Amino acid sequence: MTDPRPIRNLALIGLMGAGKTSVGRWVAERLHFSLLDTDALIEERVGKPIAQIFAEEGEPAFREYERRVVEELGHLTDTVISTGGGLPTQEPNLASLKTHSLVVYLWASPEKLWERVRGQKHRPLLHDADPLEKLRRLLAARDPFYRQADILVNTEWRSVAEVAQHVINQFRMAVADRR
Ligand code: S3P
Repeated sequence: MTDPRPIRNLALIGLMGAGKTSVGRWVAERLHFSLLDTDALIEERVGKPIAQIFAEEGEPAFREYERRVVEELGHLTDTVISTGGGLPTQEPNLASLKTHSLVVYLWASPEKLWERVRGQKHRPLLHDADPLEKLRRLLAARDPFYRQADILVNTEWRSVAEVAQHVINQFRMAVADRR
C-alpha cells in the first residue's frame, strides 16, 4: 500500500555509538545530500558544547533545546539528519521527524555500543561509575521509542560502509514507492 507521507530527508536515530554520525556522513555523501547533526546545531545555537550545557543548565534544558531544533527541521530537503540519542524519546520529536523524513533506527547491543564509544569522553550521560550498565538501562528504556522508526538496521557486525549501503537501499526503495 502506498504511504502518502512525504519523504524528503533521512533521519538516523539510535543510542550513542550506534553509528549515526559516521553512517550519516557516508549516506549524505553517496546521496549528495546535506548532513545535519542536531547536537552540532544545538551547540551552534547555544554557543557551548553539549557537555557544558548539561553541566551548567542540566538535562531538561538540553531536551528543550532539542525540541526547538527539531521544530526547525521541517523545511529541509535532501538532508541526512543525525540525531542525538535521546531526541526520539520525546514523542512529538519523533512525530515531527516523520512528517518529512524516513526514520531509520541503527541498533547495536549495549556491549557493542560500549566498545565503540569507550575511548570517547564528550558524552555526559556516560560519565557514570558503570557506563556499560548505563547503556543497558538506556537501551531498555529507549528501545520502544526507537522501534517506532520506519526501518530498523542491525549494525552489530556490519561496517559503516555496509550499514550505509543498506540505509541507502532502503531509502531509495521508500522514495520509489512514493512515485
Ligand atoms: C545523548 C546523546 C548524545 C547527545 C547528548 C545526550 C543521549 O548524542 O545528544 O549527550 O541522551 O543519548 P549522540 O547519540 O550523538 O552521542
